Amino acid sequence: MEGTQDFVRGAPHRLTLEHPRGVSDILVGPGLLASAGGGALAEVGSWCRGRVVFLVTSEVPDRHCGAAARKLLELAARVETIEVPDGEAAKTVVCAASVWQRMLDLGGKRDSRLVTLGGGAVGDLGGFAAACFLRGIDYMQIPTTLLAQVDASVGGKTGVDLAGGKNTVGAFHHPRFVLADIGCLGSLPAAELRAGLFEVVKMAALLDLDLLALVEESLDRLLAVDAEVLTPVVAASIQAKLDVVEADLEEGDRRRLLNFGHTLGHAIESEFGYRGLRHGDAVGHGMRFALRLARRRGLDPEFAARLLRLIDRLGPPALEDVEQELDVRLDADRLIEAMGRDKKARESGLVWILPAAPGRGEIVPGLDPALVRSELEAFLDTSRAAADGGSP
Ligand code: GLY
Repeated sequence: MEGTQDFVRGAPHRLTLEHPRGVSDILVGPGLLASAGGGALAEVGSWCRGRVVFLVTSEVPDRHCGAAARKLLELAARVETIEVPDGEAAKTVVCAASVWQRMLDLGGKRDSRLVTLGGGAVGDLGGFAAACFLRGIDYMQIPTTLLAQVDASVGGKTGVDLAGGKNTVGAFHHPRFVLADIGCLGSLPAAELRAGLFEVVKMAALLDLDLLALVEESLDRLLAVDAEVLTPVVAASIQAKLDVVEADLEEGDRRRLLNFGHTLGHAIESEFGYRGLRHGDAVGHGMRFALRLARRRGLDPEFAARLLRLIDRLGPPALEDVEQELDVRLDADRLIEAMGRDKKARESGLVWILPAAPGRGEIVPGLDPALVRSELEAFLDTSRAAADGGSP
C-alpha cells in the first residue's frame, strides 16, 4: 500500500480495488484523458473495442471533457451519449428508467459498456443504471469533480434518491476503471472544488494524518487547482478510502467510517431540499457538529481545534445565510427526524461516526437522544451567532 509521501507530486498513479467480481483499476493524474491510447489507458481501449458504449453525462462536464472522453473511446463500435440533468436532479428513479429505456432502444446488450462522465450525481446514477441494466453491465467512471474523484466514483456505491431520503435505492456495483484526470478539475467553479475538499478532510482526519498535514500545508495551492499538489492529495485520499473499503466492501461496519460528517450533513441537505448548500459543505457542517459530540466523549481538544481551524479555513457558507436565502429555518427536532430517515440509521437508532483520537475514528451507536438534541440546539445557536459576527 502506498502512503501519502509515496505519491510523488504530479505523477500519475495506478491504484486497485479487488472485489468478489474482479478488480477496479483506478488511475489518477493530470492529463489522463488527453494521453488516450498510451500506457495503462491501452487497457481501456481494449475494454471498449468493438462495443456499444453508452456515455452518461450532463451538460457541463460534457462541454469541458466530453471531446477528450470520446477520443479515449474511439475503438468502440459506437458511442451513444445519454445526457442527464446536472447535479442531484439526475438521481431519480424516473431518470434511471429513461437511461435504461434509451439503452434498450439503442440496442444495448449484456456486453455493452457504460461510461459516466461527470460529478458524483452523474456517477451514482450512471453506476446504478449499469448495475441494473440486463442485471448488470460493465462500466467505467470518469469523475470530473474533486468530490467524485476522491469519494463517489470509488468503492462501488451507486444509487438514486427517493423523496426525503438520499441514496435510498441503489446497489453495490464496482466500475472496471476509474479515471481521475486532475486536468478536469481546472474547469470547476472554485466553490465546488472547495466543497470537495471536505471529503478529503473527512478521510484524512480519521485515516491518514500525513494527508491531513499535506492538506493543511498546501490548502492555498489546492484551492488554486495546482495539479502538482492535487495529484498526491487525490491519490492519497483514494488510497485511504480503498484501505477501508477493501476490508468492508458492503458497509457492514468499518466502511461506515467514511460517513464522518454525513449523519447531520445529509439531514441538513434534506431540510434545505438539496438546494443552497453543496454536499461537501453540508458535510463540513456535519463534521463540526460531530466534533462537539466527540469532545463530549473525550476527544483531545487540541485535535478537535485543529480540525475546526481547517474547516473554518475552507469556510462552508454559513447555515444562517442559506436559511435566509431559502427561507427555511433549521430546527433540531426536524433534523433529528431527518437523520432517523437516513439510510445510515439502523433499526436500533442513529449511528455516529466520531473522531476518537488523531487519525482514528469510532462508530458510536446509542448516544443519548437528549444529549444529541441539546448539542444540536447549541450547535444551531452557535452557528447563527457566528454568522451574525458574535463569538462562536
Ligand atoms: N461515500 C462513502 C462510501 O463510499 O462508503
